[in-house]
Amino acid sequence: MPPSSSSSLGMLLLLAAILSAGAADPDILTDFVVPNNADPSGIDGAFFTYKNLVTGNSGDPAKLTVTKATHAEFPALLGQSVSYAALVFGAGTVNPPHIHPRASELLVVVQGPLLVGLVDAARNGTVYTQTLQTGDMFVFPKGMVHFQFNNATDVVARAFSAFGSASPGTISLPAALFATSIDDAILDKSMNTDQTTVDELKQDQAPPSPAPSSSSSAAAAALLPQLCHQNKLEYSPE
Ligand SMILES: *[C@@H]1O[C@H](CO)[C@@H](O)[C@H](O)[C@H]1NC(C)=O
Ligand SMILES: *[C@@H]1O[C@H](CO)[C@@H](O)[C@H](O)[C@H]1NC(C)=O
Repeated sequence: MPPSSSSSLGMLLLLAAILSAGAADPDILTDFVVPNNADPSGIDGAFFTYKNLVTGNSGDPAKLTVTKATHAEFPALLGQSVSYAALVFGAGTVNPPHIHPRASELLVVVQGPLLVGLVDAARNGTVYTQTLQTGDMFVFPKGMVHFQFNNATDVVARAFSAFGSASPGTISLPAALFATSIDDAILDKSMNTDQTTVDELKQDQAPPSPAPSSSSSAAAAALLPQLCHQNKLEYSPE
């Protein structure tokens, strides 16, 4: 192998490391990206329009429903570094602690109140909570653990979240820990708890579901910040 190709391989690896550490959307060299299968001359207003963010969100009012408009649902967002989600929180439902590895999130409440929380791992796991009223906005910085909770017994809460990525990604901590094949012994030790508790948490998370049910997730959501704080866990994005 000539020296040049090994040094360019080194550069490539370095570049890959820098890009993944940044975990931001790549810049595009055109104003927008026409999908491979689309005819560029056929691009019109409809290409830049997405109609299902709100209409797609008429789910079960007793649950948490998250409707996304990322580049997967709305291809015109590819390369634009923005996306949206619409959230409808049934009474008593929680969006369990999670991170978005590639984007900050700017949430605006359109029907409050909604309790939100943010975990500051760099400050010993301090949890910043706030009860947001209709019209209030809250920012969840990129890669930080956060959650939302409708602490009402009878009314729905609604919010929209804007993201600084066309593909923010979501890693739900309860699911990542207890709905994957991490060995029980490792979870027991990591959580500093016993097999019975780990079994219960796994039971709560099974089967994995994109819109977790309120009761099971509430148990895990309540336990996790405590466990993580005790164990001084920090979460690294992908
Ligand atoms: C975190 O906890 C350690 C040990 O108790 C303490 O020394 C440190 O000042 C704390 N840091 C912050 C930012 O609160
Ligand atoms: C939810 O509301 C109840 C009743 O007002 C209150 O006791 C509880 O502390 C609230 N929970 C949170 C997490 O704020």
